[in-house]
Amino acid sequence: MTKETFYITTPIYYPSGRLTIGNSYTTVAADAIARYHRLRGADVMFLTGTDEHGQKLQQAAENSGLNPQEYVDQMVVGIKDLWQLLNISYDEFIRTTDEHHVKAVQKIFTRLYEQGDIYLDEYEGNYCTPCESFWTDSQLLDGKCPDCGREVHKMKEESYFFKMSKYQDQLLAHIESHPDFIQPASRAKEMVNNFLKPGLDDLAVSRTSFDWGVPVPFNDKHVIYVWFDAVCNYITAMGYPDNPGNMNKFWPANIHLVGKDIVRFHTIIWPIILLALGVELPKQVFGHGWLLMKGGKLSKSKLSESEERYIVDPVVLSELYGVDAIRYFLLREVAFGADGNFSNEAMMLRINSDLANDLGNLLSRTISMIMKYFPEGLPEAGEIDPLDQEIRDLADQVYLNVKESFTQLSLSDALIAIWELIGRCNKYIDQTMPWALAKDETKQARLAEVLYTLADALQRIAIMIAPFMPQTTDKMFAGLGCDLKYGSECNITWDMAGESGQYPRGIIVKKIDVMFPRIDETENMEKFRKLSADLDSKLAGEQ
Ligand code: MSP
Repeated sequence: MTKETFYITTPIYYPSGRLTIGNSYTTVAADAIARYHRLRGADVMFLTGTDEHGQKLQQAAENSGLNPQEYVDQMVVGIKDLWQLLNISYDEFIRTTDEHHVKAVQKIFTRLYEQGDIYLDEYEGNYCTPCESFWTDSQLLDGKCPDCGREVHKMKEESYFFKMSKYQDQLLAHIESHPDFIQPASRAKEMVNNFLKPGLDDLAVSRTSFDWGVPVPFNDKHVIYVWFDAVCNYITAMGYPDNPGNMNKFWPANIHLVGKDIVRFHTIIWPIILLALGVELPKQVFGHGWLLMKGGKLSKSKLSESEERYIVDPVVLSELYGVDAIRYFLLREVAFGADGNFSNEAMMLRINSDLANDLGNLLSRTISMIMKYFPEGLPEAGEIDPLDQEIRDLADQVYLNVKESFTQLSLSDALIAIWELIGRCNKYIDQTMPWALAKDETKQARLAEVLYTLADALQRIAIMIAPFMPQTTDKMFAGLGCDLKYGSECNITWDMAGESGQYPRGIIVKKIDVMFPRIDETENMEKFRKLSADLDSKLAGEQ
């Protein structure tokens, strides 16, 4: 039997500045989903990368006095470092300046030209450089870009056009007959009502006013429109058209994960390119919400301008709070799909309550009680009490809920379910009072069973949180003393969280460092000031 495959993509990022915690959000979410499917045993392809062409990049390079290629080469290093820091388990990293991608995009463009779907004409309209988007006069809002509200500039130039209108009915029919294609469903409605139903204009897919792009192979005055070039990455990274090995294996993609601001490119332009090429459409485009950072204050004290800049910097935040805490916060705080606020206050609250108090305490209390009462390990199985059974049943239920939440991509619900089990285990300690059982000679078997119930539940919890907090899983395994490993030489599977009684008896638990130290606001502020000053001088040194 061939192994089930699972192909997930993130948008490819513009390497035109430092990525923020907002960009990291898409990637952390995709990483959790990819890790979950890998643990399930699927053959996963997790693709990310960088979108390196276009006028914005050319300008950013000019501003820093480098040629565009040198500039993107340098910026990509920082992006890869960030993904390593955040423990992102991507399988492939595509850069749109990769030679194989450039050649493949040229072939795609040529083919569409030869079959009459791309034609030469003249373009007159408005261009928003930060969004790399064309707008007609009637699409502008108060004369500004309807997506970002910034200034646009008038453009008149010869351009190649892509006959979007030719495929609009076919796309509409596909969207209507595949309710999962655009998710959440509200975004599908928006695309259909605002764009498809009113009718699509043909799209200008080349530019002549700058040259940092993929050259149109049969007309060297033109470079290919950056969004046309960019969306093709999802198939060129799989070897399309000349080396279709991975294409045959992984396409159609299971999920293109994108922010809501770029759903239009992924659900209209991209599928129409695929329809024109006769390539199957991806199974799903999921448009998540935005992390709003306006209220992202660190404390009541006033920040300097450079400090303000680092308040949403994922590198600074990781140093401040720890990588797993950030990953947890991003996926727990905001219902996936909706918008939500990022603030340091909310972050500290979650760390102190959910991570330090609930999870951290549960683990450290359990470990220290086992060490104290059963330094040689827990004895063979005794009798199970109804209260123990309740924990086991709840763990079974939570396991199923987490699975279902991954299917629906309701990542915050998965974490809420796991924390329900954590909360229940903490309550179970209060109910069973192991310290009281320990004082009674006749209750030793009961004491052992209580502690076993806790250790066993913690092992299941450690597996279920692996997609979200990979390092925490290994720390928990180390404390519990079991032979399980996740990060390197992984020997766990998702199914192992599905049943109770998997924790081995007779093994020695180990005291580990506090997993999530409580955050003190004042100390945190001082640490932040130092980190941002250090980063400022490091970046100044690099310039
Ligand atoms: N290069 C294009 C994507 C091309 S994909 C073929 C692009 N790049 S981007 O770097 O500007 O943005 C990448 C992703 O980051 C988008 O999905 C965007 O929604 C996401 N985010 C950027 N800031 C964000 C928040 N504050 N919150 C959540 N996601 C946000 O667009």
